[in-house]
Amino acid sequence: MSAIRVENVYKVFGRKPGEAVRRLKQGASRDDVPGTAAVIDASFDVAPGEIFVVMGLSGSGKSTLIRMLNGLWRPSAGKVLLGDDDLATVSAGRMRTLRRTKVSMVFQHFALLPHRTVLDNAAYPLEIQGMGKDERRAKAREALALVGLDQWEESLPSQLSGGMRQRVGLARALAADTDILLMDEAFSALDPLIRREMQEQLVELQQKLGKTIIFITHDLNEAMYLGDRIAVMRDGRIVQIGTAEEILSDPANDYVAQFVADVDRTRVLTASSVMVRPTAVVSWTAGPRQASRTMREAQVSAAFVVDRNRVLRGVVRDDEAVAALRAGAESIEQIVRNDMATVNVTTSLAEIFAPSAESPLPVPVIDDDGRLMGVVPRVTLLEAMVPPDTDTDTDTDTDPSTDDGADLVPALPDAAAPTEGDLR
Ligand SMILES: Nc1ncnc2c1ncn2[C@@H]1O[C@H](COP(=O)(O)OP(=O)(O)OP(=O)(O)O)[C@@H](O)[C@H]1O
Ligand SMILES: [Mg+2]
Repeated sequence: MSAIRVENVYKVFGRKPGEAVRRLKQGASRDDVPGTAAVIDASFDVAPGEIFVVMGLSGSGKSTLIRMLNGLWRPSAGKVLLGDDDLATVSAGRMRTLRRTKVSMVFQHFALLPHRTVLDNAAYPLEIQGMGKDERRAKAREALALVGLDQWEESLPSQLSGGMRQRVGLARALAADTDILLMDEAFSALDPLIRREMQEQLVELQQKLGKTIIFITHDLNEAMYLGDRIAVMRDGRIVQIGTAEEILSDPANDYVAQFVADVDRTRVLTASSVMVRPTAVVSWTAGPRQASRTMREAQVSAAFVVDRNRVLRGVVRDDEAVAALRAGAESIEQIVRNDMATVNVTTSLAEIFAPSAESPLPVPVIDDDGRLMGVVPRVTLLEAMVPPDTDTDTDTDTDPSTDDGADLVPALPDAAAPTEGDLR
């Protein structure tokens, strides 16, 4: 079951939300309906334990969307399901219970109470709920330890740095111990280095606590770093949902493509997303004749050698295969070299450059069991760094100068894993 399920949700600010929704459903554009259509027909599921990032430019509807996930706004239409509760229709009392037990929220700017200690600040929402002093302090202590502030319990907010204050905000949300954490631009006010530290800490916490996190940001690198999946919003609509890799390699439209143009692709893309089918693969039990024929047909000077389970055993070179053939050898076992560098399917492109530079052969990509899944030729590696060309529709009005440039951009090759048939 999903932790959160959003079904065809609309939020229109203004006097006639019902009418606006009806017209939007009939196909009217956002500008043609009364009021402000902040969220239009949003649908998605968030799995328990997932970090789901919502990304988009200012005004695209991110905050409005997340506020419907904790009942601060009611949708104008559609469903927001938290377990069996539909937040569009639950009673106010039930909503308060849900907010206490199921969802907590961390904001970009939130007010710490200046005259209270860090501990009491972290315990504040529990105090509002009427929890006794010892119990709430115990919970706040635990939460502060989780974010690394256990030494600061008795300090006042003014004694903390910006990053530490934001940690108190996170501890506040953690103290409530809800399964779902909503974070609206929670790190956006922080310096880049501190921000990166917070991101790392959040991922660590998530792995330890298994929380479901909805994280809003307009920073693409943050989205790519944190998100198991990312929803890209534009003008109230979700225009794409996918993993960082999917969004990078296959942006749904030019808006998304432009959004992702600046991202450091080498850190986001992994071997599995760029690898191609190896051109020459021979069986460990093959003879030198078969090995040289395979290389001749593929017009390569070396072939990868795998066993019957597709586990990569090494590389055989054409000159050595021919020499073995002349010497009357029956198998290639003696001439297989296994000193080549390999990478895992999850290795980032940034880490493939070194092995790629060391060898003229494509870099073999293996899975956790050592099986050959594909190869990354050097040219593929270089091509993958270029954003894909989304400007394929020549009928649209595009700037001719970008059209010229597009011809210079090589198309991304299909990332194809070898099938059984290729590895006989
Ligand atoms: N309470 C409100 N009343 C009227 N209009 C609103 C209200 N809240 C938001 N809007 C409008 O809804 C649209 C979406 O706003 P929202 O705050 O959700 O965007 P956002 O993606 O969070 O932007 P930002 O990155 O600037 O935080 C905007 O046009 C905004 O002006
Ligand atoms: Mg916002």
